[in-house]
Amino acid sequence: VRTAVLISGRGSNMAALIEAARAPGYPAEIALVLSNRADAAGLARAAEAGIPTATVESRSFKGDREGFERAMQAEIIRHDIALVALAGFLRVLTPWFVRQWEGRMLNIHPALLPAFPGLDTHARALAAGVRLHGCTVHLVSAGVDEGPILAQAAVPVLAGDTEAALAARVLEQEHRLFPAALAWLAAGRVRLEGDVARIAVPDA
Ligand code: GRF
Repeated sequence: VRTAVLISGRGSNMAALIEAARAPGYPAEIALVLSNRADAAGLARAAEAGIPTATVESRSFKGDREGFERAMQAEIIRHDIALVALAGFLRVLTPWFVRQWEGRMLNIHPALLPAFPGLDTHARALAAGVRLHGCTVHLVSAGVDEGPILAQAAVPVLAGDTEAALAARVLEQEHRLFPAALAWLAAGRVRLEGDVARIAVPDA
């Protein structure tokens, strides 16, 4: 299943998806890495891995969000894409774009949703004194960091944790969780019951 990974920066989750998709029998193929910034480090990483890349500069659309998204959509369609994975993509999407990819677009969020949607999740988790933190992969619906949850991984918050230490502990789990969730979606194992996603167990 041809999948586009949308990034804005470093691209470590993107790299984890590319790596996972190399395994024989993995049901998704990373067929495009699309960035909204030409300087995203992930673009060079994707190119090194031999993955087609594209940039649609959000900056040059000056607040015309729908124009920006229509340009992205054209690029995605040109690459004959069936699934979209948001991997550190730092633009809020309009309902129009979300509707184009309903049930076919995943996001990874560095917190245990519905706790800590939005930015600065690790600092906020430390400030709140939670003992468990983690990451979530969910289908994208119109609200920010909302939508049916496919998978979560929890990590402990340890005494003396810094934001960086906690972020690194969560990131390790992100790199495991995102490829697993994408595989479920690509293999057709995700079924929605209202707002709840059920993952079918494959036949033995
Ligand atoms: C990750 O923590 C992801 O969960 C969040 O942004 C970060 C992106 O990191 N949405 P990377 O670009 O995948 O390395």
